[in-house]
Amino acid sequence: MAMFTISELKERISQFPKKRLINSPTPFQKLENLSRSFEGPVIYMKRDDLTGLAFGGNKSRKLEFIIPDALNKKADVILTWASVQSNWCLQTAAAAQKFGIKPMLLLFKTDELPDEHDGNLLLDFILDADIRIKEGEKGKVVKEVNAYEAIEELASEVKERGDNPYVVPIGGSMIGGSMESPLGAISYVAAFVEMLEQAKSQQVDVDYIVLASGSGSTQAGLIVGAKVLKDNIKVLGISVSAEKESYGKDVLTIAQDTAKALQIDIEISEEEVIILDEYIKEGYGIMNKEVSEAIRSVAIKEGIMLDPCYTGKAAVALFDLIRKGYFKKEDKVVFFHTGGTPVLFPYKKSLVNFLKR
Ligand SMILES: Cc1ncc(COP(=O)(O)O)c(C=O)c1O
Repeated sequence: MAMFTISELKERISQFPKKRLINSPTPFQKLENLSRSFEGPVIYMKRDDLTGLAFGGNKSRKLEFIIPDALNKKADVILTWASVQSNWCLQTAAAAQKFGIKPMLLLFKTDELPDEHDGNLLLDFILDADIRIKEGEKGKVVKEVNAYEAIEELASEVKERGDNPYVVPIGGSMIGGSMESPLGAISYVAAFVEMLEQAKSQQVDVDYIVLASGSGSTQAGLIVGAKVLKDNIKVLGISVSAEKESYGKDVLTIAQDTAKALQIDIEISEEEVIILDEYIKEGYGIMNKEVSEAIRSVAIKEGIMLDPCYTGKAAVALFDLIRKGYFKKEDKVVFFHTGGTPVLFPYKKSLVNFLKR
């Protein structure tokens, strides 16, 4: 039994100010060829790669709630950090500029992802973001590299010149910096509602959601949405970087903070946060043959491009789970395409190496 109706939940979400940045609802479509090739389960895709801000992706949904908070706090600069090819940073730069706020990005490069003007870094440059580059750690998502000291220094630099910085933690996920509510996750509670309404209108009874999970708020928001509206949809987060013990706690914290912010009295247990970490393989952002082949397979069968760091890995997981019989043949599985496609380009060498015949 659902705890709330859809309109009651929408009402709670609407208490948080929102600025329109995306084309929504994003398409919810059946992947006919892919489903047929596995002979079940039936695979659907929620096309959050088509949100439309810059090159699209899940972060623009989060920014619809984060930008009003920054405007409300009279920010001149939005300061955030992540890896050099970060989708989060690109979409933050596009959203901030659109609302007259200067983006300042602390980006961590590695041998795998150097600071070449390619992919998202090229787009950050086009968007005239204030880009600062630092050395990162191979195979580690920047969440695991301590960026706080460097961010403090940059925030002081901004203040010294008389500007007001708004600091958002990586991915717009954990509460921290200038963000006092889990605004990123709240946007994904709304995305869950959007998907559920689309599924209902197509008479699709969803059993599972599969998504790439990195800093936590996309999964946390979907978990809260599923719990509040329809307890039986399972949300499988495919971790792209962190091990499930520690990462599961982060996602749980964000989910609990989200329920609290929406004034929803629910207990979310550790068991309800399902993280699969066996697909991280060589580490964050390290390409392998399986990811390359999953990207090619979805491109050929559906004409849809996945990305090397997130959705490509989640697709490897989805295909492997199907082959292992994790789902029933008649199950309906929704794959959330969370974007990231500009990052195909900086990975061109590995993609070509793994895919050439
Ligand atoms: C393309 C893409 N998919 C998925 C994710 C994961 O989303 P979250 O950080 O909310 O876990 C990210 C960002 O980290 C991303 O850029």
